[in-house]
Amino acid sequence: MIYQKVTDLMGNTPVLALPVAAPEVRLLLKIEKNNPGGSMKDRMARNMVLTAIEDGRLQPGGTIVESSSGNTGIGLAITAAELGFRFIAIVDHHAAPDKLAVMRALGAELQFVEGDYAEDEVAVVERQNTAARLAREIPGAIFMNQSDNPANPAGYEGLVDELFDQTGGEIDYLVGCTGTGGSLSGMARAMKARKPQITSYGVEPKGSIIFGQPGYPYYQSGTGTPKGDEIGKVVDYDVIDEGMQVGDTEAFETARFLARETGLLVGGSTGGAVYKALELIHERNLRGTVVCCVADGGEKYLHTVFSEEWLQERDLTDPAVWHRLRQWVPLDHPYARTEPMEKIA
Ligand SMILES: Cc1ncc(COP(=O)(O)O)c(C=O)c1O
Repeated sequence: MIYQKVTDLMGNTPVLALPVAAPEVRLLLKIEKNNPGGSMKDRMARNMVLTAIEDGRLQPGGTIVESSSGNTGIGLAITAAELGFRFIAIVDHHAAPDKLAVMRALGAELQFVEGDYAEDEVAVVERQNTAARLAREIPGAIFMNQSDNPANPAGYEGLVDELFDQTGGEIDYLVGCTGTGGSLSGMARAMKARKPQITSYGVEPKGSIIFGQPGYPYYQSGTGTPKGDEIGKVVDYDVIDEGMQVGDTEAFETARFLARETGLLVGGSTGGAVYKALELIHERNLRGTVVCCVADGGEKYLHTVFSEEWLQERDLTDPAVWHRLRQWVPLDHPYARTEPMEKIA
């Protein structure tokens, strides 16, 4: 198959089984980091743009404006570049610097929100306001507003079709990160339409307010809704059977564990979802097939989640989590040395 457009490379991502030390259950990871922009958000970004064109809200010569912590911005930048739209991303210091560099490389114009925020505080409200104002001021501009845009959850319908094809419909549980709620709500809705007995679990960072818990700062990037922000209209509580929270340490240790022990480099939010999926399997004895998306890759967090120094400075490591993961995920490592390795100079 020879593709003609970069947006045609979006989707058709592979599924990888992660071994689990429990009977009659499998944990399947949908490798969404394999999309051209490196995240599942490519799908919804493309869908938001195409829907706006169809609706006539986005016309030739138009400008796309969006507040994005990175992955949606990267997806929009790709689609905008391909179709010839101008794209302005409203960002803040909380975004991973590597994601911003990718957006810039793809031709996006970045506008940073002003204000004095602590490092682990997200300036989402300010970003939303700035994006809405810019879209009003620039002729032919539209604010995509992913948190309230129905084309966000609708953008994941193709992902669900793929999963049903890849598993022959053998899916029992969905565990997913919840930020805008678009991916989880969209997937859960499309899955339940095909198989109503599927149970969905939404995972947000501890400190995020989507599932009614108190808000405080957290380090997981791209996921959750921080204190002070409004929960997006695309969060569909009717199709999310249970909301749960995961700490930064559990999320990041899981991402590091997967990288070092299996060779799969995932981002921190995926680490959190995989941790909760493993916890559900082992503590609530889930049986059948559990599906979890690899929302993005660890390549985007080399200076944070994968920096020993960054983690130590923020006290975000815990060997007990690693120990738990070793018990939950049986690993083979057939060629590993049994005696300790001598250090190289
Ligand atoms: C890395 C990462 N994880 C999780 C999410 C949350 O996804 P959603 O906004 O669909 O809830 C996002 C959204 O930007 C993300 O970039």
